[in-house]
Amino acid sequence: MADKLIIFDTTLRDGEQSPGASMTKDEKIRIAKQLERLKVDVIEAGFAAASPGDFEAIKAISATIKDSTICSLSRANDRDIARAAEALQAAQRKRIHTFIATSPLHMEKKLRMSPDQVLEQAIQAVRYARQFTDDVEFSPEDGSRSEMDFLCRVIEAVIKEGATTINFADTVGYGVPELYGNMLKSLRERIPNSDKAIWSVHCHNDLGMAVANSLAGVMIGGARQVECTINGLGERAGNTALEEIVMAVRTRKDYFNLDLGIDASQIVSASKLVSQITGFAVQPNKAVVGANAFAHASGIHQDGILKARDTYEIMRAEDVGWSANKIVLGKLSGRNAFKQRLEELGIELESEAEVNAAFARFKELADRKSEIFDEDILALVSDEEHANDNEAFHFVSLAQRSETGELPLAKVVFSREGSEISCEANGNGPVDAIVNAIESKVASGAELLLFSVNAITTGTQSQGEVTMRLSKSGRIVNGVGADPDIVVASAKAYLSALNKLQSKTEKLNPQV
Ligand code: KIV
Ligand code: ZN
Repeated sequence: MADKLIIFDTTLRDGEQSPGASMTKDEKIRIAKQLERLKVDVIEAGFAAASPGDFEAIKAISATIKDSTICSLSRANDRDIARAAEALQAAQRKRIHTFIATSPLHMEKKLRMSPDQVLEQAIQAVRYARQFTDDVEFSPEDGSRSEMDFLCRVIEAVIKEGATTINFADTVGYGVPELYGNMLKSLRERIPNSDKAIWSVHCHNDLGMAVANSLAGVMIGGARQVECTINGLGERAGNTALEEIVMAVRTRKDYFNLDLGIDASQIVSASKLVSQITGFAVQPNKAVVGANAFAHASGIHQDGILKARDTYEIMRAEDVGWSANKIVLGKLSGRNAFKQRLEELGIELESEAEVNAAFARFKELADRKSEIFDEDILALVSDEEHANDNEAFHFVSLAQRSETGELPLAKVVFSREGSEISCEANGNGPVDAIVNAIESKVASGAELLLFSVNAITTGTQSQGEVTMRLSKSGRIVNGVGADPDIVVASAKAYLSALNKLQSKTEKLNPQV
């Protein structure tokens, strides 16, 4: 019988550590529900001690998700572990994931601790975590740059204390597949009680090798858990991409000979949801989930595909959920068809009033755009969520004028804590004019780091999805707005970023 490969998703924790990818509690719950539909084995829902917001999100996810194990990260200290345990209380299956750096560089320069102190803290942390759950994961942070003898001492000791998963972290993406895989193999061979734990890989993509390193850890090193994120979201160059691991192991079952519990048909929905919530667009040529991943442009390829699909296709687009997105709604579609599509997309609105409000926005959009795709519905529901929560800024209306040879002018109306504000300004371009107009009233002092526009679907009728990344006092946030008018989408995105800047949730960075 083939072994099972455990898929541990950390989109909501390590993924969220990407600059600007921080999510609200509701957004995290929506992603967690999609991860449950995808049937991931473990969802790392956050880092409970990092912020009250993260704590609340883990608590809510623990109460909502039934089929996946819910995990919280914690540094190797009692306060973090107790906080993780408290947030996980309602989970049907819970895991505490505790970590401490083991490389000479991190111990000396960052922790300012001796190896013996690190060893002792790791032991204490696992012992304490075991008081709350018998599912405890331990990660030697910067493991791939740690000394083998010391790693062996630490890992043997934490397994003795009851750690059930050992996660070999390539924190800075320094690993090379063969070396990383062999290091893991050698750890498993040298540590006498290594068979008492499941071994896991956790790789970062700084050299573009996160997926290759993870798979080497599985095949050479014998890991049976992969830690990964949807779309490879994560700090710097990101983490191992879940969709690539899943489809590699599934497509090349002849080589990997491993079973997965994943429902691959949910991959594309998960990818779109994460991209839309975080504002991190998926590059068109991204494996599995990029818009071009299954597009054949060359005549020779198209001809081959028509004759026999497997001439140029090693997986089927529909197996990862692409075909589900073709269904189109329009102006004449009724409330029932709309509601059914929401259900099929896994969107659960809480009350009939929310369905009605979303349906009203759908009708408004259908008046301006003849075909409504799934991506439009996702954007519309996200707008709806923002309209309902307690955010300070809301878009109301916009008038904008551009003419060759003239400075563009924008007149924007928005509301701030319920009162309407009108403003106008010129700018180098229409978007600059909008930002100048809003800033003339808000004076946020934020710096715009990124402005990007993406067509949500195909054709000139497509809605534009705009991402604005703002930075202020070391905080970086992404605001996302969608509208068939990209200038309106830009105003929505800017206001959404201002809302995120105002939110009080400060985060600790677990690697610091
Ligand atoms: O990259 C890393 O080392 C981590 C640990 C906290 C597992 O994310
Ligand atoms: Zn990491």
